[in-house]
Amino acid sequence: MRKKANIILTGFMGTGKSTVGKKIADRLEWLFVDTDVLIEEEAEMTIPAIFAERGEPYFRALERAVITRVCLEAEKVIATGGGAIMDEENIRVLKENGTLICLTAQPEVILSRVQSNTDRPLLRGEDPLTKITMLLNARAEAYEKADFTVDTSYFTVDEVVEAICAHLRTILRT
Ligand code: S3P
Repeated sequence: MRKKANIILTGFMGTGKSTVGKKIADRLEWLFVDTDVLIEEEAEMTIPAIFAERGEPYFRALERAVITRVCLEAEKVIATGGGAIMDEENIRVLKENGTLICLTAQPEVILSRVQSNTDRPLLRGEDPLTKITMLLNARAEAYEKADFTVDTSYFTVDEVVEAICAHLRTILRT
């Protein structure tokens, strides 16, 4: 591939970054890494436990360190946590070391995908749809910094993978 030799997935919780990322990695025969998994391994705690016992700033510091480390090597498909891109330094490191692809979805679709799942501390509470909408608005500007965006709301995983691979083929030709 060209000089930016990683594929990096950003986007809100429930937009399919890990599922799509694994499939792209299989197609390219590249390694797939999920920064949330690396954070949990490093902390030896689950993400909900990190948030509950150490707090979000501790989680964000681990996230920054993990992102810097995974970007040192090329030919990886990297799924990042939905809030990683709120950190300017993370954006710089990610964009310097990869093609940054953002997956989006409508708030109601996100809710339907995440509501049976309890491992997202930021979406716990009375009114998750309002929380999702607020966070999406607060993050919109950051997500727009991606090189390419796919709205996954009404696409199958394979359709999203195909849209991304078509974009990557276009990049390769330029
Ligand atoms: C977060 C998203 C989560 C995880 C953590 C915080 C966020 O990752 O990093 O719960 O701030 O949006 P996913 O986007 O993979 O769910």
